[in-house]
Formats: sequence, C-alpha cells, structure tokens
Amino acid sequence: ETVPWSPEETGKSGYEHFMLKEIHEQPRALRQCLRGRVDELGGRIEFEELSRLSPERLHLVAAGTSYHAALYGASLFRVAGIPADAYHAHEYALSPPPGEALVVGVSQSGETADTLAATRAARGAGAETLAVTNTVGSTLARECDHVCYIRSGPEIGVAATKTFAGQQTTLALLAEWLAADTTDRETIAALRSLPSDVQAVLDNSRSEAVAESYLGSEAYFFIGRGLAYPVSLEGALKLKEISYEHAEGFPAGGLKHGPLALVTEQTPVLATVLGDGEAARKTVNNIKEVQARGAPVVVVTDGRSEADRYADHVLRIPDSEERTAAVLANVQLQLFAYHTAAALGRPIDKPRNLAKSVTVE
Ligand code: G6P
Repeated sequence: ETVPWSPEETGKSGYEHFMLKEIHEQPRALRQCLRGRVDELGGRIEFEELSRLSPERLHLVAAGTSYHAALYGASLFRVAGIPADAYHAHEYALSPPPGEALVVGVSQSGETADTLAATRAARGAGAETLAVTNTVGSTLARECDHVCYIRSGPEIGVAATKTFAGQQTTLALLAEWLAADTTDRETIAALRSLPSDVQAVLDNSRSEAVAESYLGSEAYFFIGRGLAYPVSLEGALKLKEISYEHAEGFPAGGLKHGPLALVTEQTPVLATVLGDGEAARKTVNNIKEVQARGAPVVVVTDGRSEADRYADHVLRIPDSEERTAAVLANVQLQLFAYHTAAALGRPIDKPRNLAKSVTVE
C-alpha cells in the first residue's frame, strides 16, 4: 500500500513545516556559504566573484529580516574600520543621504520593491551598487554593478530563517575581506565552526519547553546591545510574524527611555547576551531592571557573562566569537518563535497578511 504524499509534504522531508525544515537546514546552508571563501592556510577570506572593491563608506539598504542582517553587517563593517550605515530601503529610496558610498542591497529574493527602489535611487545619484542576495538572476542581482550570493538554497517558509543566517555570515565574510588582506586564526576558526555550532544548538535547544512555559503572555520583549541588538529585533519580528503574539525588540539601552513602562509580570523579556564585554555587562544591568519589575527573563547566552544568574530560563549557545555567536543566538530565537506558533496552532509557513516577497512599494 502506498501512502499518499502531496508534493508539498514530500518537500518538507518529514518536518511539520517548511520553517522547521529550513531552520534545520542551516548547518548545510552555512557550509555552502563558507565554501571556497575561507582560506585557512593563507589566513584569508576570498570572494572570487567580486573584483577588488575599496569603498570609503557603505550604505546597506534592505527590508524586513534583511534589514536586521544589514544592521548587523553595518556594525561589523564599522568595527573593521569602514564607515557603514544600514537604512530601511523604503526610507532610503525617498531621500538617499548625500556622499559617495557603495550601496549594498541586501535581499533574500532580490525582488523586494523597496530595496530595488533604493538601489535604483542610488544608481540614479551615481553610486556604485552591490547586491547580496540568495536568488541568482534576480532583478537586484541583474541591476547592481556587483553581486555576491549567500547560497542558502530555496526558502519556502514566509518567515526568513536560513537566509538570515546566510546574510549574517556573508556580511561577516565581506567585512573581513574588505578590511584586511589577512584574517586572524581565531576569526577563521569561529567562522569555520559555525555549521557545527549551529548543529549543536539544534541538537540541544530547550526552546520548546521554554516557549511553552510562556504561552498566554501579554507581550514579549527582546533586548540586546551591539551585535545582539539586530538579533533581538529579528527575534521579535519572527515571533510576531508567525505566532501573532505582540512582540517588540529594543536596544537594551533604550529600555529605560520608554519601553520599561510596558514591562510587567505578564511580559517575558528575552535578553541576548554575547561574550563578557561592555555590551554584555550593561545588558546584565538591564536584565536586573526588568526583573525588579517582576518580568520573567529568558537569557540567550554563551555563558561568559553573569547573565545566567538573573535568568528564569537560559537558552545556551556554544562559546564563540561575538559575531558568530550572534548567528547562534538567533537560531535559539527562531526555535522559540516556531514552538510558540506551533503550540498556538498557527499556519506557520503562510502567516496571514504576509508574503514571501513583496513586489509593491
Ligand atoms: C517580506 C517577507 C520577509 C522578508 C522581507 C524582505 O516582508 O515577508 O520575510 O524579510 O520581505 O525580503 P527580501 O527578499 O528582500 O529579503
């Protein structure tokens, strides 16, 4: 007897949703992303498809999840010594800031109207453009002067998951490549172990039990500083997209300037704390502030700071460099969003009112 499988179910390889399948595909997608780009012996990052670029300044333009990757990338470019800013593509298109910049369109589909409008406006003003996309032959790829692919493979779920990890990793590689001829051993090692570190998160995550213990909350707040800030925005976006629960991401430092008024016993706060530097230490203080207001705290961390001590639940990630830890922390938040939405019985792969690719402005 044959079991009737729809092509769609076959495509899910036994996972209940494409989103979960794609979350689990991340180690493989990241291996593809890194392939040929990390020369371990030479201590170098390579981008064969790109001619040598030496921009004085970068403007990253993107929408939705890709905007969060752009924020993360802009931080890394700045750390590498290249002035860089991330813009909402829809705002940039209206009034591109003056000055010479390489304009980088970050887009999974390469078809988002907002992002195309931004890169077109930039080209119109004489700027050089670079596409960072998942889609070969997309409009963005065709229209930009340069293109590099994130190589994440097809993504069916409306909520972007593996492509966000691919964008983060590609932008981290680009920052290294643009900044210096050589890359130190620790950075190369952290990048090379990303796929297995993501696998370790997938194998050991306690996110399902944690998500279940907060069902019925009034709202969910996500906080982080530095590289953990875009991860917090993305964690909140993922949760609201697929679970329809009210979720907001804030820079941890911005909490006391308004959002703290919303924090109660009914609003779990998910804090991402990476490493043990200044950003981590200050975020630990913010965690204490929300705890004093009775909010339950979930900490996503590598365990290097004191954050664990103030957490009701800990979602642990492997010890890594801060930039790669930001990729790992996001995987925990993807799973948290997924399990919350699954427990609520939401149509995870096709959330109401949303489209995978938005081709109107
Ligand atoms: C839509 C999708 C999001 C996506 C955004 C940008 O809003 O629902 O998941 O992040 O478009 O898409 P892009 O293809 O440009 O990355």
